[in-house]
Amino acid sequence: MRIQKAVFPVGGLGTRFLPATKAIPKEMLPVVDKPLIQYAVEEAYSAGIRQMIFITGRHKRAIGDHFDAAFELEYELERGNKTELLQIVHAIKPDDMDCVFIRQPRPLGLGHAVLCAEKVVGQEPFAVLLADDLMVGRPGGPTVLEQMVRAYERSPGTVLAVQDVPREETRRYGVVDVRGVNESVAEVFGMVEKPVPEVAPSTLAVAGRYVLTPGVFESIRRQPRGAGGEIQLTDGIAALIGTEKVFAYRYEGKRYDCGSKEGFLQATIDLALADPELSGAVRSHMQAALA
Ligand code: UTP
Repeated sequence: MRIQKAVFPVGGLGTRFLPATKAIPKEMLPVVDKPLIQYAVEEAYSAGIRQMIFITGRHKRAIGDHFDAAFELEYELERGNKTELLQIVHAIKPDDMDCVFIRQPRPLGLGHAVLCAEKVVGQEPFAVLLADDLMVGRPGGPTVLEQMVRAYERSPGTVLAVQDVPREETRRYGVVDVRGVNESVAEVFGMVEKPVPEVAPSTLAVAGRYVLTPGVFESIRRQPRGAGGEIQLTDGIAALIGTEKVFAYRYEGKRYDCGSKEGFLQATIDLALADPELSGAVRSHMQAALA
């Protein structure tokens, strides 16, 4: 079955970015000139997905507004013959893209956020993208979600994006236990959320891109509250192992953890350096700043 729907959980509190996230969701923070959520939506679109499902929390308005028409702005741009800017605004939501907004009543965890999408997703496989993980595919290559959808077509089941991390960092991630570590797709036999390095089953960490099967909903519902009192997505996926196939996919590309200040700044610098209009100025500024 084709992947036609993507879920974007954007209901977190974003406390690591306070005070910036007091009144706006962290997914609206821009890297160069585009909010994080737009990068994620474009990635889903590139993978052939046309229905975008946002699980929002407090301060949902900015995200809803971003993907809505902006009549006054478009009118003014049209009147001023600012065709290029008008195209940029129109491209945010192509005509064949559909946006659905669901409210997560309380931030009870990522698993709970995914569960909120159940009625709209129904009985089909779907993608989940965490917009605070900004993923950049290899130059000229497919986006990370495109790669995952292809991996899913070859090996139907749950597909988790994974990357190698230094062992001392395992406590920041969900970590998988796999066989066939050198393959780009490997079957997952176990999964632990934020393990200390001594007990981590591998150094393959789950990044914020998933292809999930509808079986995950029932599995999440059956889980007791996990680490930090939250309903964890990892627990729901881990409980599927044994009854459904779960695969780890080593994607080609780079992940920026834009939920942390360090990752956000790295993404900003790298994407500015990759932008032909900005790279010269950024490079000379950095040289001067470091001199
Ligand atoms: P994080 O663990 O990064 O939490 O959530 P957070 O609240 O967004 O940020 P900090 O740690 O307080 O700074 C991972 C992803 O899960 C979503 C978040 O929006 C983010 O994309 N999430 C988390 C929800 O949608 N709902 C929740 O209840 C929790």
